Amino acid sequence: MNLFAYRGGRLHCEELPVDELAERFGTPLYVYSAGTFRKHYARFTRAFAPLDPLICFSVKSCANLSVLRLLGSLGSGFDVVSGGELFRALQAGAPPEHIVFAGVGKTQEELTEAMQAGVGRINVESESELSVLSHVARRFDHPARVAVRIIPEVDARTPHHYTTTGTKDNKFGVPIEQAAALFRKYARVPVLRLCGLHLHIGSPVRTVEPYETAIGRAVALVDELRGEGFTVDTLDIGGGFPADYERAEALPAAAYAERIVPLLEGRGLRVVIEPGRCLAANAGILLTRVIHTKDTGRRRFVIVDAAMTELIRPALYDAYHFIWPTYAEGRVPVDWSREQPFEGLVRCDVVGPVCESGDFLARDRALPALRRDDLVAIFTCGAYAMSMSSQYNSRPRAAEVLVDGREPRLIRRRETYDDLVQAERV
Ligand SMILES: Cc1ncc(COP(=O)(O)O)c(C=O)c1O
Repeated sequence: MNLFAYRGGRLHCEELPVDELAERFGTPLYVYSAGTFRKHYARFTRAFAPLDPLICFSVKSCANLSVLRLLGSLGSGFDVVSGGELFRALQAGAPPEHIVFAGVGKTQEELTEAMQAGVGRINVESESELSVLSHVARRFDHPARVAVRIIPEVDARTPHHYTTTGTKDNKFGVPIEQAAALFRKYARVPVLRLCGLHLHIGSPVRTVEPYETAIGRAVALVDELRGEGFTVDTLDIGGGFPADYERAEALPAAAYAERIVPLLEGRGLRVVIEPGRCLAANAGILLTRVIHTKDTGRRRFVIVDAAMTELIRPALYDAYHFIWPTYAEGRVPVDWSREQPFEGLVRCDVVGPVCESGDFLARDRALPALRRDDLVAIFTCGAYAMSMSSQYNSRPRAAEVLVDGREPRLIRRRETYDDLVQAERV
């Protein structure tokens, strides 16, 4: 469900042909659809409405201030994992109590910033962190509101093992069986209000079962802790809900809610959910232009002006992104699958200009024959694309545009060569 569609053979974002955006703002260019963000947010909140949860958009997935403002205006809070993300959320005008702060290595400075801001909850990930926080919090006249991130020991069966986070092989959280001991030791420390649990099992999680198991274990722990006399009023179930990469592959939020809601309803818990990808990924594309093509006799390469610097997911996770020319008369794809049912497609690797063999955006992909200057769209780039970008090979970062109906708004200008050296001192 997104507002990118071919009309008259031309790819549009909402009411605008994307080739016009490329002409005006240059390439590579991230293009986001405001309407798609709204639709996805509405669908997600509707699905989980019986829990009246606090939705905290995961800033790491798409961190642009205008996107955060848009989601904030819809009622979203924010999940942040660094002082920088906290800064962004505050800059975007988020009420501090709607910010949750996770992260396995928060520094004393970052914990201090979180206390200064008065964030809604600090999700601690180790006893060491809890101990540092209990010292930091003494300097403030309000207690630190704290949840313990637990390891539910659930394999989320994510497409790549780098994105599984809910087992003892991963660095996140504390083993669930150690959580009660932390409550016994810290829940009565006067500067702490230790009264919640947090979990995030991975991303994307394409089936509901891992959530059911993890939440079931968390709820059992809540009961145990309450049985010992502790107040536990919050359960943050993290994010990880999927997006469509290949076709309509992602289960809708309603399918998750249908089985998660009954586990949590009526338990006197403030439920927090931290979706990122499922709100943002399909709300963005990356536009890129063909610079050169060449054939090595073994492989055909299409070299485009976007690279692993703009989209690292293929290199990092071997992730699949659908790619297609923005002008596709007679060959408008019916879905986003690898094999499209058209005659005359050419197998090629779509690669960037970065000096790494790992710099590819697609490998062995059947595409219409591409020529210099052709404009190509890489889909599902609203999440973990720009936010994971880099300046490697001294490439200035690309611009971002947010389209709302007929209105394109430049929400991040393209970086210049001066930006590359701005922070350096000689
Ligand atoms: C703690 C936490 N919450 C939420 C998310 C968001 O995940 P997703 O974008 O898949 O919803 C992440 C992603 O890494 C995370 O680490």
